[in-house]
Amino acid sequence: HLDLLINNAGILRDEQLGQLDFTSIEQQIKVNTLAPLRITEALLSKLVPGSKVAFITSRMGSIADNTSGGRYGYRMSKCALNAAAVSLAHDLSPRDISVAILHPGLVGTEMIGGHGNVTPDEAANQLSERIDALEPRNSGTFWHANGDVLPW
Ligand SMILES: NC(=O)c1ccc[n+]([C@@H]2O[C@H](COP(=O)([O-])OP(=O)(O)OC[C@H]3O[C@@H](n4cnc5c(N)ncnc54)[C@H](OP(=O)(O)O)[C@@H]3O)[C@@H](O)[C@H]2O)c1
Repeated sequence: HLDLLINNAGILRDEQLGQLDFTSIEQQIKVNTLAPLRITEALLSKLVPGSKVAFITSRMGSIADNTSGGRYGYRMSKCALNAAAVSLAHDLSPRDISVAILHPGLVGTEMIGGHGNVTPDEAANQLSERIDALEPRNSGTFWHANGDVLPW
């Protein structure tokens, strides 16, 4: 069985209004939204009472936090991932499986050209703390890695 499933892989593309690249938007939805759901579905039989599932999402998927527009594919894909993760939190609750929806912070990885507020190691440590604190009573919460609860 699996104690912990972390769905982390993701891609970030950019699109300009007036020249929207719908292939790029579809690709982000495939990788960022459908793939984590597919993987979780494929591994359902390996999850047991006490197992945890973490989704590495982004606050760019927050509608309430969208103050700058743009990034259509990425924002839509992470928003939809958040919706799927909340449904999973509800659906897996009777099996005592908890779900975390985690924004890692602005992390200096390849995705953003190395320009972040935190290093990958720091982000990984914080994410690990959130996953340790995950339990049935807080399943389905949208957290920043630093522990803040984020708005939808
Ligand atoms: N960096 C940030 O500031 C930031 C902020 C918010 C959220 N996030 C999220 O954090 C997660 C990790 O991002 P990162 O910053 O570490 O980005 P990254 O440096 O670009 O790494 C992305 C990872 O995803 C994998 N991946 C991408 N497409 C894949 C596919 N089709 N199949 C399998 N693996 C695939 C890549 O594998 P390969 O190297 O093999 O391609 C790579 O390991 C993502 O979900 C991202 O959206 C990051």
